[in-house]
Amino acid sequence: MREQLLAAENIQAIEWRDDALHLLDQRLLPGQISWLTYQASGQVAEAISSMVVRGAPAIGIAAAYAVVLAVRARLAEGGDWQLALEADFAQLAASRPTAVNLFWALGRMRERLERLKAAEDPLQAVEAEALAIHQSDRDANLTMAQLGAELIRRHQGNSQNLLTHCNAGALATGGFGTALGVIRAAYLEGLVERVYADETRPWLQGSRLTAWELDRDGVPVSVCADSAAAHLMKTRGITWVIVGADRIAANGDVANKIGTYQLAVNAMHHGVRFMVVAPSSTIDMALESGDDIPIEERSADELLDIAGQPLAARVAAVNPVFDVTPADLVDFLVTEKGVVERPDAQKMAHLMCRKRLH
Ligand code: MRU
Repeated sequence: MREQLLAAENIQAIEWRDDALHLLDQRLLPGQISWLTYQASGQVAEAISSMVVRGAPAIGIAAAYAVVLAVRARLAEGGDWQLALEADFAQLAASRPTAVNLFWALGRMRERLERLKAAEDPLQAVEAEALAIHQSDRDANLTMAQLGAELIRRHQGNSQNLLTHCNAGALATGGFGTALGVIRAAYLEGLVERVYADETRPWLQGSRLTAWELDRDGVPVSVCADSAAAHLMKTRGITWVIVGADRIAANGDVANKIGTYQLAVNAMHHGVRFMVVAPSSTIDMALESGDDIPIEERSADELLDIAGQPLAARVAAVNPVFDVTPADLVDFLVTEKGVVERPDAQKMAHLMCRKRLH
């Protein structure tokens, strides 16, 4: 299965090549495939804020490569380059607030710098660390895909209808996805009849990115309005809702794209299983509960306009882009360290003590 999954890994959104970071511009998909090249860390911070690159693990990976660019620039300036680097760390940390993978990756890069030996080349050391972060996310995707598909097989067996929200696929990660990794693996095992992809207002990650990814792989996919989810659960035999996450608190509460919480409530009401798929780099044991997770609010323009054209009355708008699903609505949390059923504080603490499975 691992080999089959690797063969299915056909889109990448992040490349480190020729000493530069290359990002597939996700704002233009699916209409246009356009790559942007980054040579400076400040530009990568801007790319994260403006969502050239998005999705929790992908943001972390991009930030790790940005640190490599920052180290290169600060070394070239001379002087106390490690002190000067603090401004770059601060700028990257301010790029988006909710996905903890950003802060996790910056923490790992900082630790690597703190461990530098006198004889070591700092640039080589940080580059190796960023590549390792990227590779470990790819490996985690594969492990989670197998664990999640196994859950689907165990709980229903035959071909099923799945629903997903936002984009937790190759575009959002270093590999072929968290939630979409599970869906891809389940499809390869003949367990998937159709995937319903919520369009995911206002940025349309579902209709623009998820539907595009699944269609490229030949997975039967239907886009639906976010507000159709409860009706589809009732009428279309949906058996699983499968989503990614941006930050998971120590008690198992899950922050993910706005609209996830209402899906979990609806899933519980309709007896549909709710699976969250996320690497352990998304788990923030420093936060006791989801109430402590900072929720990003983006510009009202994302709701009021589309492609520069007015879409709504000229009134105020509120645009929180994540919400928190309480842990008791989560049936399964799938990570590369294993699966947690009905997460709570004790089970999360046990999980974090485990090693990666592969
Ligand atoms: O605003 P975005 O597009 O960065 O939000 C992305 C999501 O909410 C994803 O579901 C989450 O990051 C999981 S990605 C594997």
